[in-house]
Order: sequence, then C-alpha cells, then structure tokens
Amino acid sequence: MLELSSNTRVTELKDHSPAMLAALMSTGIFREGDNPDATIDELCWGFGLNPAILLQILARAQAAEVPSTIDISELDGMTLTQVVENIESSHHAYLRETLPVIGELIDRVVGVHGASDARLTDLQELFSNMMVGMESHMLHEEEALFPMVRDMENDGDIKPTRCGSAVGGPIACMENDHENVLLELARLRELTDDYAVPETACRTYRKMLEQLDQFNENTVVHVHKEDKVLFPGALKAQRALNGG
Ligand SMILES: [Fe+2]
Ligand SMILES: [Fe+2]
Repeated sequence: MLELSSNTRVTELKDHSPAMLAALMSTGIFREGDNPDATIDELCWGFGLNPAILLQILARAQAAEVPSTIDISELDGMTLTQVVENIESSHHAYLRETLPVIGELIDRVVGVHGASDARLTDLQELFSNMMVGMESHMLHEEEALFPMVRDMENDGDIKPTRCGSAVGGPIACMENDHENVLLELARLRELTDDYAVPETACRTYRKMLEQLDQFNENTVVHVHKEDKVLFPGALKAQRALNGG
C-alpha cells in the first residue's frame, strides 16, 4: 500500500496504483504527457486546489482498489436470484454470526492491553461503528434491492419496497457504502499492521487478529460480488424491464 502525502509524485501513483492514477486523471489536473515527476502539492497549487482534497480522493481510490486475484468464478452461470442467495448465505449469514464474536474478542483484548496500546481503542471504536453500519447496509439490501432483483427475475415486475421500485437509487447508496467499508478495512489493516501477530500476543489476541483477517477477506469478496456482478446485472435487468 502506497503511503500518500503531498510529496507523493505522479510516477509513484503510476507504479503502485492504476486506480489512483485514474482518479487523479479524472480530476483533469494531470493529463497524458504531463510531467510525472510533479508532486501532489505542485499539481494542486498549480490549479488552486487544496492538496488535502486530492489526497482524500486518492485514498478512497486506493482503498477501493480490489486485487485482481479475487476469484468470484463460483458465480459463473448463476441467475441473479442465485447470486443473491449466494451473497446471503456466504456473506450476510457469516457477518451476522461473526461480527458479535469479533466485537467481543476486541473488547476482551482492549480490557487487557488497551491501556498500553492506544491503537487498540481506535480499533474497538472503528469496529463497533462498522458493525452498526454493516447491519444497516445488509438490511437495506435485503429489504430493498434483493426483493427487487427477485421480483424482476421471477415476476417480470417490481413490487414497491422501502426504496421505491427501481434499483438505481438503492444501488447508488450501496456503492457509496461499499467505498466507505473498503476505506474502513484499509484503516483496520493499518491499525493491526496487516493482522501481524505480535510475539507476545496471548490466545485471545491471536484469535482476534485471525478473525479480523477472515472478516477482511470475506468482506472484500462480498463487496466484489455485489459491485461487479449483482449491481451491473440488476441495472441491466431493470433496463430490459423498462424496454430499454
Ligand atoms: Fe451484501
Ligand atoms: Fe453490500
């Protein structure tokens, strides 16, 4: 992961992250053929833009960058209804079972080691916010988007849900939630040094890191399935339903 600062050069973005380079180019302050040795600071002030704003845009792009090794081939050939069922059983059920368990492990570790490591209390606060956000996000999917997808595929029509009867609105919200979750996962990795186990860690500490690592992995795949398969598929089905 590239450490971003106002002294980061465009050439470093090029080497480390196509997503960050694309995000930079989408702002229009750097174009093909411009000097790649320019720093973020130099680029921004040349256009009267506060570097802190660009750094935020780049950090979001980096967090959302999904490694190309994520394998979601298990979804190949599935109908959208089957994709929804796969997501509910492999990810939503996993989260409902595991989030409270991890939360409890973190509380125990903070109780013992929190006073000597401030990062653990940051981790506790971050994870507790993630738990609330993810439960509400899953409910949003289960009460709005998923029924719409099932209706489209099975009835050729959408019965109104809490988010109306078109998939575009909820999908825009969900994509935004996903970007935030990926940023939070990046922060979790940072706070745990990529889930590295300290030599002195007790059993509970080790278990906490192991479970957090699995949670990270499961969530990256979960988001990838929705962003890359379910959402585009649902939008396409909606267009077909509208005769487009
Ligand atoms: Fe989901
Ligand atoms: Fe989601």
